Parts: sequence; C-alpha cells; structure tokens
Amino acid sequence: MRQVLHVDTNNYNIEISDNNFDKLKSDIDSYTSGKKRLFVVSKHVYELYKDFLNINPAELLLIPDGETEKNIKNYIKIQTKALEIGLTRYDVMIAVGGGVIGDLTGFAASTYMRGIEYIQIPTTLLAMVDSSVGGKTAIDITGGKNSIGTFHQPGAVFININFLKTLDKRQLMSGLGEVLKYAFIEESCEYEKSVFFFEFLTLCKEKFFELDSVTLIRMIDYSLKLKIAVVEKDEKESGLRKVLNFGHTLAHAIESATNYKKYTHGEAVVYGMFFALNLAFKKGLINYSYYRLSVELIENFGFKNISLKKIARPENLIKLMEHDKKATHNGLTLILPCAKKKVKGAVYTSEEIIEFLK
Ligand code: NAD
Ligand code: GLY
Repeated sequence: MRQVLHVDTNNYNIEISDNNFDKLKSDIDSYTSGKKRLFVVSKHVYELYKDFLNINPAELLLIPDGETEKNIKNYIKIQTKALEIGLTRYDVMIAVGGGVIGDLTGFAASTYMRGIEYIQIPTTLLAMVDSSVGGKTAIDITGGKNSIGTFHQPGAVFININFLKTLDKRQLMSGLGEVLKYAFIEESCEYEKSVFFFEFLTLCKEKFFELDSVTLIRMIDYSLKLKIAVVEKDEKESGLRKVLNFGHTLAHAIESATNYKKYTHGEAVVYGMFFALNLAFKKGLINYSYYRLSVELIENFGFKNISLKKIARPENLIKLMEHDKKATHNGLTLILPCAKKKVKGAVYTSEEIIEFLK
C-alpha cells in the first residue's frame, strides 16, 4: 500500500507506505543519487534496523536517544561530521528516527553552509503524523523547549509504517497525542475537504492498537492532509499555523518543568489538550456536550484527565509559559476550542491562568 502527498511549500513529496525496507533503501538511493549523504540516526533505531538500513559507516552519525539529546552539543557533532566527510551545500542530510532526530538534523541542515537539503525518515508515530512535515526545526536549551530553531522544509519525507512494529506502547500513545490534536482542529485547518477525523478516531481504537496497516496509513494520511493545508497557507506561523499548537503552550511548560525526562512530548500535549478543553468549557467557549465528547475521545485511548498540580507547581508552569513563542506583553495566547472541531487564539493574563491551574 502506498500513498503520496505533495506539499507546495518547497515542492516536496511525502510517501506513506508499508513497503519492505529494501524498497525504502532503494527509494532513498535513487532520490539521493549523485549526492554525498550524511545519515543522522537514532542509536536505538540503528540497533534495531542496522541490517535493513545497511548504511555505509562513512556516511553514518549515531545520536543517543531522548529529548535531552536535542541539544547544541549534538548539533555541533552533526556539523563537524558533515565537514569531515566533505558535505557541500549541494549534498544532503538524512534524519532517521523520531522527532528528536528530525528536529535536530533539520536544524543542522538549515544552517550547514547556510542551508542544505535534508530528508526525513520518521520512525515514531509522532514524527510520522507531525514533526517530519512542515519544516519546523529546533534544539532545546535549559528552560526553553525548541527556543533555538528555523523553518527549513525537507526535500522529501519517506514514511514507512513498518517501523512502528518495534515502537513500545508508551511511544505509540505519545504519537496519539498529536493525532488527537487534529481531531479538535479540523475545521480550523482550512482543508478543502472534510476528513471527519474526530469520527474516524472514535471508531478506530482496536484496529489502531493492532497496528492494522490500512488504519495506520489512513490516520497518518488524514493527519498530514490537515497539517499540509495549514503549512501551505502559513509556513512561518504568522497566523493560521498557530492552530497546530493546540495543547502545546502548556505541554512545552510541562516538559521543561520536568526537565524533559518525566513525560513524553505527546503525553504533555494530551495534558495540554485536557487543560484547554477544561478552560474553554469553564469560559463558556464550548458547550457541555462537546466538552464531554472530546474528553471521552481522549480517554477512550487510555489517557487520564489528571490534576495539573500533580505534574508541576502552577507558578512554575506559568513562568515557563511566559517564554512561549506566542506570548506577548499583553499576556499569553492559548489555542482553545471554540466550537466543534474548531479552535481560536485567546489571550489571558498570567494571573487568570494561574488561578485556573490551581
Ligand atoms: P523521540 O524522537 O525522542 O523518540 C521517542 C523514543 O522512541 C526514543 O527513545 C527512540 O529511540 C524510540 N524510537 C524511535 N523510533 C523507534 C522505533 N521504530 N522502534 C522503537 N523505538 C523507536 O520522540 P518523538 O515523540 O518521536 O518526537 C518528539 C520530539 O518531536 C520533541 O522534541 C518535539 O518537540 C518534536 N516535535 C516537533 C514538531 C515539529 O513540527 N518539528 C512537531 C511535534 C513534535
Ligand atoms: N507541530 C506544530 C507545527 O508544526 O506547527
């Protein structure tokens, strides 16, 4: 099974398939033919897939796993290796791993020789439905998740769902965090057709956890169609693209407050979405029936709407939220549900939010 999507922004293709790995390898070889390549690969993914990937050691750089590795040290490692092997600005970097490897490699590629091409080979669900597409690249610094980064679109994205067979349940659920996000924003994405993502997700749980290929490819395809519609209209996030940050302002604060170690990105996004739904209901932006339906959709996949006080001190979260890229001197902009499958930006002062968090 194979599905190809096109992104007008930077004119690239995304292939979603359940092909065998030989086909993936030959697709990469033909796409990069005549170019020097640097494969930046997650150590863990490499251990699992080295026989399939069969990468020439001269073209390979392994990066340890975890959010704390999305850092300046590994950024320099990539640049140094690229120089060492003589990558020119006409060559290519290839990220193989989850969102950490994708964001890091994308950032390195965007600044190496003032910007070279990179390809995304996402191996987690989260990276397949979100981070490998749309060109946001970044590294973290203490207290500032993704605070150093660029917009740099990939040249191609090869999504092979067979990688998901070795992903553990926690990471699979983490990817669901970003998948569920699209259900709540579909009507705000300005995609010309309806994919009925909310309805699809209420029906696909069993098949999803069985890793049914048709379900996974459809889930990734729908998610990316919505994301592409947004990115093509607002690549640099001057307006519309903010809808993709639903759940993220609090999520980034949670990750940062817990030193990127306690919660995965997707788990933090789930808490951010519960928070946004609770706040929107409290402020009268959505009615009870939609609030319940939404909470049930998330809970049905096994997530719990727990008290934020159990996660971190509200004062601490607020301080971190004030560093959010959407924050202004007038307050914090939160993306909140305002109707069925629709969200909007709403500005609140730190005092209002802290009151609510408590
Ligand atoms: P990750 O990259 O840390 O991967 C999670 C874990 O899964 C790692 O331990 C990794 O070794 C393991 N793994 C990866 N592929 C595997 C496989 N096939 N089998 C077994 N294990 C595998 O985390 P993630 O959830 O993929 O990405 C999170 C990152 O993505 C965060 O840094 C977040 O900020 C970023 N992100 C970026 C964007 C964007 O638009 N650029 C969007 C969303 C998230
Ligand atoms: N993940 C949010 C965005 O790509 O804008």
